[in-house]
Parts: sequence; C-alpha cells; structure tokens
Amino acid sequence: MLIIDQEKCGKDGICIEECPFFLLKPDADGIPEMIPGAEAVCLKCGHCLAVCPNGAITLEGVSPESCEPVPKQIPISAESISQLVKTRRSIRVYKDRPVPREVVEKLLETVQYSPTAKNLQPVHWILVDDRPKIYQMAGLTIEWLRKLNMVPDIIEAWDKGHDIILRGAPNLAIAHAAKNSINPAADCAIACTTLELTANSMGIGGCWAGYFMRASKNYDPLKQFLNLPNGHKVYAALMLGYPRFKYHRIPPRQALKVRWL
Ligand SMILES: Cc1cc2nc3c(=O)[nH]c(=O)nc-3n(C[C@H](O)[C@H](O)[C@H](O)COP(=O)(O)O)c2cc1C
Repeated sequence: MLIIDQEKCGKDGICIEECPFFLLKPDADGIPEMIPGAEAVCLKCGHCLAVCPNGAITLEGVSPESCEPVPKQIPISAESISQLVKTRRSIRVYKDRPVPREVVEKLLETVQYSPTAKNLQPVHWILVDDRPKIYQMAGLTIEWLRKLNMVPDIIEAWDKGHDIILRGAPNLAIAHAAKNSINPAADCAIACTTLELTANSMGIGGCWAGYFMRASKNYDPLKQFLNLPNGHKVYAALMLGYPRFKYHRIPPRQALKVRWL
C-alpha cells in the first residue's frame, strides 16, 4: 500500500507527523513504515505523499509524479478570496440559457477536492438542465407544502405563477449521499457551498433550494421522481444559472458573534 523510495527519503519525519491517525513510524534506519493494522485505518487522504518534499512516497499506486503539483505562487490573494466570499449573492433571477453541461462538470471536478468526513467522498450529484423537469420538481414541492398547510404565501405566489421554490432556474444540482456515511449532511453542504463559490468565480449564480431539500427528504412522489439509490438521502441542492442582474454593493451582515474560550 505504501512504497517508500529509500534513496529519495529525507528521513525528516514530516509524513509521520502529518498522518492524521499516526499510522507511520520510522524503522531502524529512520525510513517511515506503516504500523501493524494501519491499512484498515488509513483514510487514503494522500497527505503523506503530498507533503513529502522529496517525492519519496507512493500510496496505493499513486506516485508523486502522477499528482498535480501545488504551484509555487498561488495567484489568489487573501483579498481576492475575501472579495469572492463577500460578493457571492444568492441569485434568484436567471438568464434563459442554461449553464452548459461541460461547465457544470468542470466546476464539480474542483468541488470534488472539498473536505469530507474521513475522506469518504460520499457525495453524489443529480444534475438537471431541463427547465420543465425543474418546474415539475418545484410543483411537487408545492404539493407537499400544500398538504402540510405550510407557507401559504409561497403557495399563493405559485398559484399566481411565481416560482419561489426553484425560481425558474435553468440548472439544478442536487447533492445526495448514503445515510449511513459518517457525516453526509456536512459533506453535501460543504460541497454545495464550494460549488456556489466556485460558480461565482465563473460568473455563474447559485441559490440554495431549502424548501426543495426538505420536500425531497419527506415527500414520496418527489423521492420517486429523483429515484435515489437505496439508503440515500438528499442533503443539499443548489439552483444555478447566469445572473440576469449585476449586484453593485455588498449588503452588510451582522457583527460577528464571537467568544474566545
Ligand atoms: C440552507 C439554506 C437554504 C436556503 N434556502 C433558500 C430557498 O429555499 N430559497 C431562496 O430563495 N433562498 C434560500 N437560501 C438563501 C438565503 O436566503 C440567503 O443565503 C440569505 O438570504 C443571504 O443572502 P445572500 O446569500 O445573498 O448573502 C438558503 C440558504 C441556505 C444556506
């Protein structure tokens, strides 16, 4: 599982210190080796291979040469990240044309690097770029809300032709995962948050679909429409599309609620 190139190994102990579960120890010559039973516990997170300054570690057949290098100078300043986070808005009014499939898939390839509990990477996506289907799902959500007599204003708006559920979005990304994964709700939420931010950096707007998420967990006709694998649940969903309007200001947010302990 772990191959150390003894000639390249600097015996610096960095991989030993960085392993999340302390699964490495130096052998008599100072070369790292796995402790007994490590294979069952290893997250396959690749940290040992990624952190080694000498490229001495191959993990599970993944060699240092086969990995994308971290650029020496990451061309993103703290200021640009701050701007990206602060200028992200929930976008609810979209241009008609959908985000092309290859663009959505490219975004998700980046999102795939988001953290997940125990590196399980449990997030699956259902992608939709067919407006009538998205409208149908909004309609099923309304059906559920109507049955429960919830949010009458939203139902009334729907009856008058306003879709407050999925906002007539041209694209929808639904994140689902196995319920028995370690923390599927957090993993899917992080993935959707990363997707929203990454999309924003490409001029694509997103908006969380909270009512749809709740209905997709609770309303059988919507669950049947989504046809999830057995044992899976929807944990996050994001409308996507090109914004019709540009935001000119950053609306203020509450003061931080902080207590240092
Ligand atoms: C979990 C979650 C669910 C949300 N559900 C909806 C929703 O169903 N419809 C909607 O229009 N916005 C929804 N939003 C967007 C929030 O209303 C929005 O983030 C908030 O008003 C702040 O605006 P901003 O995102 O532009 O900063 C949701 C946001 C989150 C995080």
